[in-house]
Amino acid sequence: MSDSKARIAVIGCGWWAQGWHIPHLLCNDNVIICALVDKVSQPTSDLNPNLVSMDQLQEICGNCPVYTSVEELLQSDAGKEMNGALLCTPHATHYHLAELLIQEGMNRILAQRPLLHILLEKPMTTDVEEAQKLHDLVHSYWRTCSITNNNNNNNVPYFQLNHSANFRQQAKVARDLIQNQAKIGTIRHINASMASPLSWLFGHPKNITWNTPTGNMLGNGFAWGQSSHLLAWIYHVTGDAVMPETVFCQMNHSDTSGADLSHAATIVCQNDITFSLAGTCLLPGNEHGDPPVGKEISVEIYGSEGALFYKGNDHDPASGRLELRTDTTVKVLCDEFHFENTDQEGTGPESLQSFLAACLGRKDYDKGASSLVGLKSIQTLDAMYRSHHSGAAEKIAGTRVIERRATP
Ligand SMILES: NC(=O)c1ccc[n+]([C@@H]2O[C@H](COP(=O)([O-])OP(=O)(O)OC[C@H]3O[C@@H](n4cnc5c(N)ncnc54)[C@H](O)[C@@H]3O)[C@@H](O)[C@H]2O)c1
Repeated sequence: MSDSKARIAVIGCGWWAQGWHIPHLLCNDNVIICALVDKVSQPTSDLNPNLVSMDQLQEICGNCPVYTSVEELLQSDAGKEMNGALLCTPHATHYHLAELLIQEGMNRILAQRPLLHILLEKPMTTDVEEAQKLHDLVHSYWRTCSITNNNNNNNVPYFQLNHSANFRQQAKVARDLIQNQAKIGTIRHINASMASPLSWLFGHPKNITWNTPTGNMLGNGFAWGQSSHLLAWIYHVTGDAVMPETVFCQMNHSDTSGADLSHAATIVCQNDITFSLAGTCLLPGNEHGDPPVGKEISVEIYGSEGALFYKGNDHDPASGRLELRTDTTVKVLCDEFHFENTDQEGTGPESLQSFLAACLGRKDYDKGASSLVGLKSIQTLDAMYRSHHSGAAEKIAGTRVIERRATP
C-alpha cells in the first residue's frame, strides 16, 4: 500500500458515478480506485442507456475488486485498506450506508488504524430524522477522534456532502465576509432564486429518482433535486447566523410526472430573519442544447450595514460577480460567477479535490458542506413539502439543530 496515493472505494456505480466521479478519479495520478460496490451487476439509467457492466467498469478501473454491498466491502482487504469512501447511491440509501461507514471509521480510530474519510452525495438524506441521526453520528465520529487523539497525524475524519458550489472560491469569500459581521452587519433578509432549464428532466415520468417520492418524502422534484444546492450554498455561507424555524411554501407540479416544477417559499429564521426562496425548472432551453442554456441563480443577503449580492448564469462566468454593497460603495469581491462545478474534463471539482486532500493526509482542505449544512437544508425542504400539503406555515422538524454546535 503506497502512502502517497489515496485509496478510494466508489459505492454506487450508476449514472453519476460512471459519468462523473469515476472519470475524474481516473484522471488523478495520486488516486487508486481500490474497490467498486454496486448491488447490481449491470447498472442502468434512463439518463444514459450506455452504462457499462460492473465487469467492464472493473477493467476500466484497473481490475480492482467489485463487491455487491458495503458490508461485503468492509469485510474485505480492500475495505480495510481504503482511506476514502465516495458514496453515490440513491438518496434513500444514504443514511444506512453512511452509518456503516462511520461505524467502521470509529472502529478504526479505537484500534489506532488510519482514518476513513467520506464524501457523500447530496442530498444528505431525504428524511429529517435520518439527517438528524447522521449529523449526530458525524459528531460522535469527530469526538471519538478528538478524545482518543491517537490517529496517525492528528488529522480529523472528513465527512462532507458533494455540493460542489459550496467549495468554490466565491463561496469561501462570501462566507468569510459574512463571518466578519462588520461588513454587512446583522443579517435581516435573504432573497434567493434558481431557474434551471430542466423541464425535460422533471417532466418525464421515466426519471423516477428525480420525480418519485421514496420513504417518508411527501413529494419529489425541483425542490429536492435543485433547490437543495441553493439552500446548501446559503446555509454554508451564512453559517450559524441563519437558523430556519418556520416555512410557508406553495408548489406547482408536472401533469405527466407529478414532480414539483416550481416553488415559492417564505422561510422565517431565528432573530426575525426573513428568507424568500423561489425555484423553477421551467427556464426555456437545455444545458446540452445548441446553444446550451445554463441556470440563472440569484442570492441577495441583506444586513444592517450592507448587502452581499451573488447572481449570474452558471454557464457563463462573465455573467455575474460577487459584490458587497453599502450605502456608499459597490465593491466587487470576485468578478466571475461560478456555481456547481459541472466541468466534465480534468481531475474533478473542488469538492472532490478537498476529499482527496483529506484522504492523502493533508489538513489544508476546504470544508464546504458539513452535516449541519445538510441537516438544515433537509429540514427546510421537508417543511416546504409539508407546507405545500397542509396549506399552512410549518415548523422546522427536529430541534437539536439550534444548539449551534461546531461542525467538523
Ligand atoms: N452532486 C450532484 O450534482 C449530483 C448530480 C447527480 C446525482 N447526484 C446524486 O448521486 C446519487 C446517485 O445518483 P445516480 O443518478 O447516479 O443514481 P443511479 O440510480 O443511476 O445510481 C445509483 C447506483 O447505486 C446502486 N445502489 C443502490 N443501492 C445500493 C446499495 N445499497 N449498495 C450499493 N449500491 C447500491 C444502484 O444499483 C445504482 O447502480 C444520488 O444521491 C443523486 O442525488 C448528485
